[in-house]
Amino acid sequence: MVITRVLIAIAMEAEASPFVTHLNLQPDPTFFPPQTPFNAFRGKYNSCELTVVTNGKDTIHNTNVDNVGTVPAAVATFLALQKMNSTSEDADLLINAGTCGGFSRKGAAIGDVFLTTAVANHDRRIAIPDFTPYGIGRIESHSVENLAKHLNAKLGVCTTGNSLDFHELDSHHMLQNDASVKDMEAAAIAWSAELFGTPHFGVKVVTDIVDGDKPSHEEFLENLGTAAQSLQEALPKVIDFVCDKTHDEL
Ligand code: ADE
Repeated sequence: MVITRVLIAIAMEAEASPFVTHLNLQPDPTFFPPQTPFNAFRGKYNSCELTVVTNGKDTIHNTNVDNVGTVPAAVATFLALQKMNSTSEDADLLINAGTCGGFSRKGAAIGDVFLTTAVANHDRRIAIPDFTPYGIGRIESHSVENLAKHLNAKLGVCTTGNSLDFHELDSHHMLQNDASVKDMEAAAIAWSAELFGTPHFGVKVVTDIVDGDKPSHEEFLENLGTAAQSLQEALPKVIDFVCDKTHDEL
């Protein structure tokens, strides 16, 4: 079976907007239940049907910030996959696109595009034997070695946590996870995808260096615009590559 229906989960509006505009995807206000703050944009791109979902803005604290982090990511992904399933339009592939922090010890530099080989959590520490691996929650990504070669992108593990910064224990677990990049959604999105048996991987652009000497939030804000632009350049190439291929060809 070839890939024709692709769901792209992107947490932040600033990360998604250039891509959505570039591909002329249209908002679908009926896609998510009305209680949710999530957004969907849909349209055709070559032979593929694309659905981009974003996590929307925080309504509870009445601010203008995006719903970053694992909870909105897992819920939005689940609802999107469920909606597509309910209309017999199951997603053939789920791509989690967005920005990330990169580890210079794993060769990451600002603006690099990484494709995930696996995802794991670094802030779910449960010191009860059976719960320990559950907490880490490592999930393998669909293998995309051919795509990585095609894009000249790097490959690596994405470690997920609910903070932009990190403390010493996080640092230990990020190292244990053998992470090349760090984000706030990938492991949650992969968890929802696994529930539906949907093949998935992440496309992550580096905005800041986690093991560098600048605070993440400063470097992140400095580079968000250029990273979103770089994502907008990389994503159409990703879509061009995956559409009409079988999963094994990725
Ligand atoms: N997104 C971009 N940079 C990040 C970082 N350092 N940590 C988590 N998420 C990020």
